[in-house]
Amino acid sequence: MLRNLNDHPNDPIESMFVRLANDTHPGKIDLGIGVFRDDSGNVPVMQAVRNAEGRLYERNLSKTYRSPLGNLDYCRRVETLVLGEDHAALAGGRIVSAQTPGAGAALRAAAELVHGLSTDSAVWVSTPVWGHQIEFFEQAGMQIQSYRYYDSHRASLDAAGMLDDLRSMRAGDLLLLHGCCHNPTGEDLTPDLWQAVTDVAVETGAIPFVDVAYQGFGRGIDADVAGVRLLASSVPEMLLTVSSSKSFGVYRDRAGLLSILLPPEARNAEAVRRKLRDTLRQLYFMAPEQGAAIVNEILSTPELEALWRAELDAVRARIIELRAGLRTTIEAANPGFDASFIERQQGMFSCLPISAEEQLLMESRFHIYMLPPARVNVAAMNREQSRALAEAFAWIRAQRAAATEASLSRAV
Ligand SMILES: Cc1ncc(COP(=O)(O)O)c(C=O)c1O
Repeated sequence: MLRNLNDHPNDPIESMFVRLANDTHPGKIDLGIGVFRDDSGNVPVMQAVRNAEGRLYERNLSKTYRSPLGNLDYCRRVETLVLGEDHAALAGGRIVSAQTPGAGAALRAAAELVHGLSTDSAVWVSTPVWGHQIEFFEQAGMQIQSYRYYDSHRASLDAAGMLDDLRSMRAGDLLLLHGCCHNPTGEDLTPDLWQAVTDVAVETGAIPFVDVAYQGFGRGIDADVAGVRLLASSVPEMLLTVSSSKSFGVYRDRAGLLSILLPPEARNAEAVRRKLRDTLRQLYFMAPEQGAAIVNEILSTPELEALWRAELDAVRARIIELRAGLRTTIEAANPGFDASFIERQQGMFSCLPISAEEQLLMESRFHIYMLPPARVNVAAMNREQSRALAEAFAWIRAQRAAATEASLSRAV
């Protein structure tokens, strides 16, 4: 059977990583993978994480099985981190949660669960969106609908287009939003737009599905989830996925949360919990424990939490500085080009206004690798790489201008 498998198509994200791995140039630059790097290019482990690991090791904890719902202490801590101590849904016991192997698995499981309950429900995703999200929903059998989100020519949100598209949602459709630091654009909803989107969700009966993968990378740990909290207190039902990969730097330990918020009058939390547990068991049986144990240890130990908050503040400060530096470097190499969007946007990513072909030129000529649509991981760069990117971008723009001029003169 397997020996006949010769032509499985290449996923566009995976194929970029294959090209990167095969590039033998010593100065190749990886701006694709979504990790935070320090100035020497390392992906640092937070001291709070190291300390938590030491404490867990000392306590010699059991490694016996848990249920498919995973580490429920982790769930409570992360729910509180995202929704806030006093959120009515927490006090009212209206949240059913599971700890998952990262938010990736949580997204896939949520799609499976929703599609199993309602085959008619579509999921609305922004244009552009992190490509794997579409894959997770499609694999579960869900219909995908797109809404306008980012205008790459103006390098800004297309607020009117977005709201216009969202008014076509039907009751029971899912509306996928990124809680902060939108992947891939870095362009977040303003407080007014969070309110407007909340209103459309209430009017249409669509169910918001908020994915929080970068809490603390944008404006601050609480400021980054203000929109999520607003939605959670305004709509009857909501889905929430949270990644601990970035905020705690435990990428490969695989810790994430999937939460279902039920309406205040709902009496079926136990049935929802059973459905969630069965969905997870059928998909992957059990989640790994280590990442969740570390995050739970940090969030339940005041001195570790204080250390983690300080370290996350430093990560955010570095990203803000890198963004300002990249803007200046790009503008210096590209006179007249306005790169202020890079400084304004939030979190790890911004997209360069170049085509897919130009992105391939960046790879072949400059050995600079990014994910579609020209998504740059600003949080992975040092000054030298920033300069290399700015110069490559200037070269691409010059080629484009020359090609336009040549085609104009042919037309004349
Ligand atoms: C928006 C978004 N959601 C979810 C994830 C998945 O994160 P993980 O599975 O590592 O928790 C990512 C990872 O890059 C992401 O960018």
